[in-house]
Amino acid sequence: MANDTITLTNNNDGRSAEFSLRSGTEGPDALDISSLYKDMGVFTYDPGFVSTASCHSSITYIDGDEGILRYRGYPIEQLAENSNFLEVAYLLLYGELPNAVQQAEFHGIIRYHTMIKETLKNFFDGFHYDAHPMGVMVGVVGSLSAFYHDSLDINNPRHREISAHRLIAKMPTIAAASFKHNIGEPFMYPRNDLDYCANFLHMMFATPCEDYEPDPIAIKAINLLFILHADHEQNASTSTVRLSSSSQANPFACIAAGIASLWGPAHGGANEAVLDMLQEIGDASQIEKYIAKVKDKDDPFRLMGFGHRVYKNFDPRATIIRKVCHEVLNNLADSNNPLFELALKLEEVALEDEYFIERKLYPNVDFYSGIIYRALGIPNNMFTVMFAIARTVGWVAHWMEMMADPHQRIGRPRQIYTGASERDYMPLDQR
Ligand code: ACO
Repeated sequence: MANDTITLTNNNDGRSAEFSLRSGTEGPDALDISSLYKDMGVFTYDPGFVSTASCHSSITYIDGDEGILRYRGYPIEQLAENSNFLEVAYLLLYGELPNAVQQAEFHGIIRYHTMIKETLKNFFDGFHYDAHPMGVMVGVVGSLSAFYHDSLDINNPRHREISAHRLIAKMPTIAAASFKHNIGEPFMYPRNDLDYCANFLHMMFATPCEDYEPDPIAIKAINLLFILHADHEQNASTSTVRLSSSSQANPFACIAAGIASLWGPAHGGANEAVLDMLQEIGDASQIEKYIAKVKDKDDPFRLMGFGHRVYKNFDPRATIIRKVCHEVLNNLADSNNPLFELALKLEEVALEDEYFIERKLYPNVDFYSGIIYRALGIPNNMFTVMFAIARTVGWVAHWMEMMADPHQRIGRPRQIYTGASERDYMPLDQR
């Protein structure tokens, strides 16, 4: 870095001031404009935060041009190949891979917290049977603060840690209960002899009437998808969790806010939307028609599962999932999955099309994840819930990091006001 400051001059009033550049360990420098208004009397304007860093963070690093994603310095490819979801959760929360003792202790703690209060189960009855499971998740997770008063002091690091453990442990239980409510089956209690992903499958697919043994292929696939979805630095839902927590709100309410943000089809809701889209397209003969719709400026249609704010060459998670998709579908004797064949064809056509090339639009993590979930028997409306279970780890890691940051302040963006200037109130009979 040649200079560690940038001088800005306001050509309207001649005011000039120097601003320092902040460097991280990797990635572009950031201009610290926190004194801009005081020094120059102007705000910055950056809708969608395209050029704005909102915090320092040491959790996840992304280089969108190079297709790099690392959790705490470890490449996602290595974690996907060698790790398991709870180990990744520990890494994201505490910054280091656990040793054997720490691993055993962490697994024990998460298992200990998997049950939800019996009275919390009554909440599910308040939802209509066909409520979208994400709607149920927002409500039930938000309500946890009413049940766990003993760990709600956000200024106490130990309380924060207990809340983080509770959220990670209970999320699969609540998610599976949302599914069971939806299909009218009894809730299944967690089985603490099973690992995290196997236990989740048990709560989803077991019934009190017969034994159920989760399929090892399904456990492996879920473990991998959860690792890939665990964190992605300052995305919309994580930023939502950070912004809502900045007012010192309780963590359960803030994670519920994150779930609500994740639900949107431009974010985590894309995995459900991809499957809906593939089903709508139907077969390869219709692809041209849908590519034409994408290009039609009067048509709001977008290829779901394509494009990313940060990745402009490829999404490394999509590369991993695409490969695993083949393996899972082959092993589940579902190699002739027509939706997967259609997705491959759609990807091929889009990647050769000028529209997508010009705009650097590539398949993202969610283009293939739904196909795997579906092959495992998980219905479309649970896909984003699966994402929420995994991302809870990232959300709580960011929340813990933020709450321990002495520089954290309430988030309070400014605006460019475009409304009416001052005017006098008119009595009704004069309007
Ligand atoms: N299909 C067709 N065109 C697209 C797509 C798409 N999926 N995504 C972007 N474009 C086009 C836009 O129309 C725009 O074209 P224009 O310049 O002619 O107006 C250009 O590409 C830039 O798009 P923006 O919307 O400005 O890009 P932004 O970074 O704001 O949005 C986003 C990123 C939301 C992911 C977008 O690509 C999208 O809507 N994708 C589909 C939904 C999706 O898959 N979301 C999951 C993201 S990954 C995740 O959250 C886990």
